[in-house]
Amino acid sequence: MHHFSLQGGDLFVEGCRISDIAREHGTPLYVYSAATITDNYDALATALAPLDPMICFAMKANSTLGVLSLLARRGCGFDLVSGGELFRVKQAGGAPHRCTFAGVGKTRAEIEAAILAGVYSFNAESVAELEAINHISGEMKQRAPVAIRVNPNVDAGTHAKITTGTYENKFGIAFEEIASLYEYAATSLKNLELRGVQMHIGSQITETGPFVKAIQKMLPLVSELKRKHNIQFFDIGGGMGIVYKDALASGKPDWWKANPQQMTPAMYAAAIIPLLKDLGLKILIEPGRFLTGNAGVLVTDVLYVKNTGAKNFVIVDAAMNDLIRPAFYDSYHEIIPLVASEGKGKLVPTDVVGPVCESGDYFTKDRLLPVLKAGDKIALMSAGAYGFVMSSNYNTRPRPAEILVKGNKATIVRKREKFEDLVRGETV
Ligand code: LLP
Repeated sequence: MHHFSLQGGDLFVEGCRISDIAREHGTPLYVYSAATITDNYDALATALAPLDPMICFAMKANSTLGVLSLLARRGCGFDLVSGGELFRVKQAGGAPHRCTFAGVGKTRAEIEAAILAGVYSFNAESVAELEAINHISGEMKQRAPVAIRVNPNVDAGTHAKITTGTYENKFGIAFEEIASLYEYAATSLKNLELRGVQMHIGSQITETGPFVKAIQKMLPLVSELKRKHNIQFFDIGGGMGIVYKDALASGKPDWWKANPQQMTPAMYAAAIIPLLKDLGLKILIEPGRFLTGNAGVLVTDVLYVKNTGAKNFVIVDAAMNDLIRPAFYDSYHEIIPLVASEGKGKLVPTDVVGPVCESGDYFTKDRLLPVLKAGDKIALMSAGAYGFVMSSNYNTRPRPAEILVKGNKATIVRKREKFEDLVRGETV
């Protein structure tokens, strides 16, 4: 579900016409819908209510303070991967005791900061890391709560760069080694509290099958860990996919019914609740993309149009430094002109490209789009997850402003960068 819609042919977010927001704040511009984020959170919380889960937003998907604070106020926890993210959670009013700390390369400073902040659990990804956390917490005269990230070796059937649950990648510890590792930790690493067990199999998973398979594989192990080590939680990771194609249609309330192939919170819940509800453990989930992906768009202005004979190029003022997903994963983002009068008429195969000096700097290739001209504005849909967070200053391009819309009100939650911001801390 989301709150982007065409009204009289113009693209709206909640009660605001996006072209008005773009006129006021300039482009490129990220625009988010607050109601979409909170509705997504509520839909997931409601569907999973029988499990009484702790939902930890994987804030790597979108760590803008305005977005985090919306979720924090709803009681959402956070899945962190760095000291920087812990800092952001605190700035946004989030509760560290509702946070998990993941990642294969936690530094000493990050481990210390997370222990001091009182995170709910570290999700440890190697024996060496467990030993380091044990050592540091001993020095601090603390016991650090940990879970071990299990690699269940289940293929999530998603893009190679975002599959994480097989032995081909760096994440977690092999399923077969887990039981003996908990034994080792229980007997030898006395400054650890073995609080839970965690897994995450990948991202943008659009069917329930891989989740069910991974949970089923884990259950006997999880029960054994509960019996032997009195663990309190099972964290099943994130990964719920969203709609990228037909992104606008997916905002309609009856859309899910009409597209049974797309996984909804209710379908996800129906598949996993029976497996987990009698386990007697607290269930954690770490959704990232599902909560914010369809809640944001990147608005960009057409600078020039050129035809090389072979191709029709639309050159826009956003680039791969602002939204890298198409260049990096060949990912699809729906492209919608902001106003009805723009982009009317016949469809032509079009490459939409940015100003960065790389041929990889494109948002789409050979897509059938309405004829666009300089000055038209378009929205790249479903850019609310792994959008701004993956942006950079490549080509010394200031990063876009971010706007959070609530009803009829559009608020700047991050100012557009200035050139001065880009050289801060540098000397000649
Ligand atoms: N938990 C862990 C341990 C993760 O590694 C991730 C994502 C998540 C949760 C959240 O996954 P989600 O619910 O968002 O699927 N940049 C890529 C996605 C990378 C995902 C990395 N890990 C993209 O733009 O598609």
